[in-house]
Amino acid sequence: MKANITIMPGDGVGPEITREAVKVLQAIETSFGHDFTLEEVLFGGIAIDESGSPYPEETQRSCKNSDAVLLGSVGGPKWSDPNMKVRPEKEGLLEMRAHLGVYANIRPIKTYPQLIENSPIKNRYLDNIDMVFVRELTGGIYFGKKEKTESSASDICEYSKTEIERITRVAANIAQDRRKKITSVDKANVMATSQLWRSTTTELIAEEYTDLELEHIFIDAAAMHLLSRPADFDVILTDNLFGDILTDEAAILTGSIGMLPSACLGENSFGVFEPIHGSAPDIANQGIANPCGAILSAAMLLQYSLNLKEEAQVIEQSVSGVIEDGILTKDLTESSYVSTEEVGTAVMEKILQT
Ligand code: IPM
Ligand code: MN
Repeated sequence: MKANITIMPGDGVGPEITREAVKVLQAIETSFGHDFTLEEVLFGGIAIDESGSPYPEETQRSCKNSDAVLLGSVGGPKWSDPNMKVRPEKEGLLEMRAHLGVYANIRPIKTYPQLIENSPIKNRYLDNIDMVFVRELTGGIYFGKKEKTESSASDICEYSKTEIERITRVAANIAQDRRKKITSVDKANVMATSQLWRSTTTELIAEEYTDLELEHIFIDAAAMHLLSRPADFDVILTDNLFGDILTDEAAILTGSIGMLPSACLGENSFGVFEPIHGSAPDIANQGIANPCGAILSAAMLLQYSLNLKEEAQVIEQSVSGVIEDGILTKDLTESSYVSTEEVGTAVMEKILQT
């Protein structure tokens, strides 16, 4: 098949991990006879440096004209002064998510048997961890009106019923193909938005998805239960801020946040795909970053935006194979580790052998 894919390497470790994910996409192209047109564009801090804007018009155009976007990561100390006129996160990442309408952030959390030793959590809790977070991505406190004076500041958290309904449907459709259970996380004992969240999700599931079980838990309890009984969770549905926090926490279960991919989806098949980790400026340009989160994001891109399920599976199996072979970046092992590039090449070779 033919597809246009926009590549946004971004900042920090973004370029080095994205390079490996691109290598993997090209291996899939060769193996399966596809024709991917990849267009690399500026995004984030580097785009501020080059053009004054973290999400320049040319980048916007490329995204709008593509079937999917593969993103590395954005931000870094150079652009972190809150008084800067434009910032990679707010005017870049958040603006892009809103502009492209990708309101559903899918973050699968999966453990690899060979890696659970790396988790600080007792390993007996970590067998069979396989959960998917569905995080609302273009609303809530991230996007509400913000005010700041010398002596006070405020962030408005707002959700419409429609916004809650559409993200609930995304979670419900995923739950249909899994354990048919959704855990919705909110703070309905305190927040008005959470009360609307709870009543809206309850109503919608009761009306449209009668075979699904829906449970509600408060964010504080969820933060605890995620570590004390992680295997109980399957699909976790939550808002923008709670989802941001809980997915970083859940990453701890897997032993390294460097392994985890994500998809940001909207109403149609178009999506933005990025590892859930950040730009990690402290380890950038040393060749030690783990490219697996980016590579697995490329797999999600094939699955969700291009409907290439078999190809996505080949990538996932190749990554698992490379982990089993003990070809690991520094974050995954205390003994001898290999470079970002070596892991990418190993995954690529497995794909070409498949
Ligand atoms: C994420 C990141 C972003 C977020 C930041 C960089 C704005 O942490 O994708 O999880 O909070 O959404
Ligand atoms: Mn985050």
